[in-house]
Amino acid sequence: MALRLGLAFLALAAGVLAQEGEQLCGGAPYWSSDYTCYDDSVLCPVSYGIPTFPCGGACYHREMYRCVAGTSLRLLPRAAGSFGLTVQGTVSYAHSQEVRACGGYLAFGAGARECTSCVPELAPKNCAAYQNKTVLQTDGKMGSDLPGHQYWYLNTTDGALMYTLGGEANGPDEIATAGKGVTIYQDGFFSYNGLPYWLACLRTLPGGTVGTGRAYRIYAPTPDNLAKTGCDQIKLVSYGVQFIDQGAFKYN
Ligand SMILES: *[C@@H]1O[C@H](CO)[C@@H](O)[C@H](O)[C@H]1NC(C)=O
Ligand SMILES: *[C@@H]1O[C@H](CO)[C@@H](O)[C@H](O)[C@H]1NC(C)=O
Repeated sequence: MALRLGLAFLALAAGVLAQEGEQLCGGAPYWSSDYTCYDDSVLCPVSYGIPTFPCGGACYHREMYRCVAGTSLRLLPRAAGSFGLTVQGTVSYAHSQEVRACGGYLAFGAGARECTSCVPELAPKNCAAYQNKTVLQTDGKMGSDLPGHQYWYLNTTDGALMYTLGGEANGPDEIATAGKGVTIYQDGFFSYNGLPYWLACLRTLPGGTVGTGRAYRIYAPTPDNLAKTGCDQIKLVSYGVQFIDQGAFKYN
């Protein structure tokens, strides 16, 4: 088993011959799955499968900061308008997955479907014009054209990332929670209460059995959810989209 070497130890070990799976950075061995080497001298950790970058002696996430004049970090601006979400994580099922809307849940994984529909009589544009990707808006709405709107929100009971299906079923409480506690950086982290991660839990059917197509639901890192077993920490990264091209008439 590979020993995970800390930076201090790496410095001491400089000059030691790299073992299989290791690489050298300024002569110091490191695991490329755990660190990135810059200018053959600076090692920055890979966090949740996302590389970090050097800036004035520190390592930073481009999903949260930018490096000004090579020395100081500035927070990214907040996202505005429409965006999609990508999942990142060390668990292989969470690597660069798209978040998709289906059945009121925002989920990801091989079995996570994108569920959309279109009613030509109600749609302000030709149904064929919708790309049917899962698009959210920073004002709390989904990127859909359904009259009366659809909203993304956190379930106040279990912290699940969900969206309203529209129509009569929309309770005003759900809408009031849309976006609450969530910070969205432009082409950067989608974070809850200042915590930079979420929990991915395999969707299980009533009775506790796992569904056939693997889909993972996304939960806020509340104390209750962090105490749950069987869920993995993931990060969510937003990317700007033009809703006009990418969204759906309705998410089902
Ligand atoms: C999106 O869905 C609508 C029907 O709901 C369909 O007419 C349209 O062709 C779909 N768009 C794409 C890009 O598949
Ligand atoms: C919240 O989740 C529970 C299941 O944990 C579900 O029964 C309830 O309908 C959800 N509430 C909303 C508003 O989606």
